Amino acid sequence: MSEPKSKNLTWHEGQVSRQDREKKLGQKGCTIWLTGLSGSGKSTLAVAAEKVLADRGHQTYILDGDNIRQGLNSNLGFSPEDRTENIRRIGEVAKLFTDSGCVVFSSFISPYRSDRDAVREIMAEGDFIEVYAAASLEKCEDRDVKGLYAKARKGEIPEFTGISAPYEEPEKAELIVDTGSLTLDQSVAILIEHLEKNGYLSG
Ligand code: ADX
Repeated sequence: MSEPKSKNLTWHEGQVSRQDREKKLGQKGCTIWLTGLSGSGKSTLAVAAEKVLADRGHQTYILDGDNIRQGLNSNLGFSPEDRTENIRRIGEVAKLFTDSGCVVFSSFISPYRSDRDAVREIMAEGDFIEVYAAASLEKCEDRDVKGLYAKARKGEIPEFTGISAPYEEPEKAELIVDTGSLTLDQSVAILIEHLEKNGYLSG
């Protein structure tokens, strides 16, 4: 964690513990960190999996790159430095939500391994679940749901991930979901099974 700019700060503990909150919610707080190329299906997977969990009575929340960049991170672009700051802030937000007992879905390209590792680092063991939405560039470009790859190829979007900016594949993801080939239902099932197996969805 980087040193705060402010000095003379005191940490205040509340009287309600994370354990209290998790007991009430019947779940374990965690952050499902979806990483992958634009158009790999991160947000689609987050939305569908969240719906399944919410229907079962779980407390959930989605943090999505396209959305957060219109608010909290509206001052950030796509340079390496800005992407790092984007992920740093979201890591901190996800950590807070996780502490609240929530099952958080985070959907950001998060192309740099070191940025993802830094988020893992600030979270407690087991709180950070790195999930690689493993659709190839070819697949994502072929789908081009938002039409951004075509624009990037024409040089209309600088520093576009996979075309003119790097994407570093995860080396230690807790889960790899082949969103390039699987159906959405299959991907959701794999993700939820992982959460069930590892005790996140029981009180
Ligand atoms: S990240 O790299 O900093 O993690 P983030 O997930 O927040 O990116 O935002 C990615 C989304 O922004 C993409 O899905 C796409 O819709 C849009 N976008 C606009 N410009 C770019 C760009 N240069 N590279 C990648 N995505 C971009």
